[in-house]
Amino acid sequence: MSDEAKVVWHQHTVTREARESLAGHEGCVIWFTGLSGCGKSTVANAVDYQLHKSGVRTYLLDGDNVRHGLNASPAKLQERHGEDFANRFGLGFGAEDREENIRRIGSVAQLFCSAGIVTLTAFVSPYRRDRDLVRSVVNSSGKPNDFIEVFVDCPLDVCESRDPKGLYKMARAGEIKNFTGIDDPYEAPSNPELTLKSAEHSPDELASQVIQYLQSIGKLSS
Ligand code: ADX
Repeated sequence: MSDEAKVVWHQHTVTREARESLAGHEGCVIWFTGLSGCGKSTVANAVDYQLHKSGVRTYLLDGDNVRHGLNASPAKLQERHGEDFANRFGLGFGAEDREENIRRIGSVAQLFCSAGIVTLTAFVSPYRRDRDLVRSVVNSSGKPNDFIEVFVDCPLDVCESRDPKGLYKMARAGEIKNFTGIDDPYEAPSNPELTLKSAEHSPDELASQVIQYLQSIGKLSS
C-alpha cells in the first residue's frame, strides 16, 4: 500500500455549514497581492479590525509574520534543527521558495475558510500561476466564490519612495537579490475580484471597498 493510500480524508461531524450558521456569516479567503510597500498589510489589517469590531470571525495571515514561524528561513531553522533540515524546509525568496510559501499559506487559508472564518492574507505572491493554483484549490474544495483576489495596485516608484523597511534601497544597491519589482518580476492579476488604488485612497477607504464587496456577494450573512 502506498503512503498516499494510507492517508484518508475524514468527514467531521461539525460541518462548515454548522460553523457558519453559529458565526452568522460565511467563510472566505481574501487574498491581497501587490508589491512590497504597496499597503497590503495595512489595508488587510484595517479590514480585519472593522470586521472584528462588527462581530465577524476573522484572521489575518501576514507575510512577514508567517515567515517567522511556519515558513521560516533556513537561517532561522538552523539553530534548532541543523543545517540539512534547515536547507530542506526553510524558505527564502527564490522562485521555488515563493511557490512553496504560497502553497503552504494557500493550504492554511483553505483550512481557516473551511472553519467558517473570513481569512485575510497579505503576501507579495508575485507569480500568477501560484495565486491561480491557490484559487483553484480553495474554490474547488469549498464554494466557487470563496477565493477573493484583491490587487493592491500601487506604482513601483510610490512603493519605493515609502520603503518602510529600507529594502528597496538595499535591492538597488545589489545587497538583496531577487527583490520583487527590482530584479524579480511582479505579475499583476489578470482578473482580480477587486483592484484597490492604494496611492490614491486612504487605507480606511480601501477597507470599506473590500467590506462592500463582501456584502455584495453575501459573504457577511449565512
Ligand atoms: S512572497 O513573494 O513569497 O509572497 P512574502 O509576502 O512572503 O513574499 O514576503 C515579502 C516580504 O519579505 C516583503 O514585504 C519584504 O519585506 C521582505 N522581502 C525580503 N526579501 C524580499 C525579496 N527578495 N522580494 C520581496 N520581498 C522580500
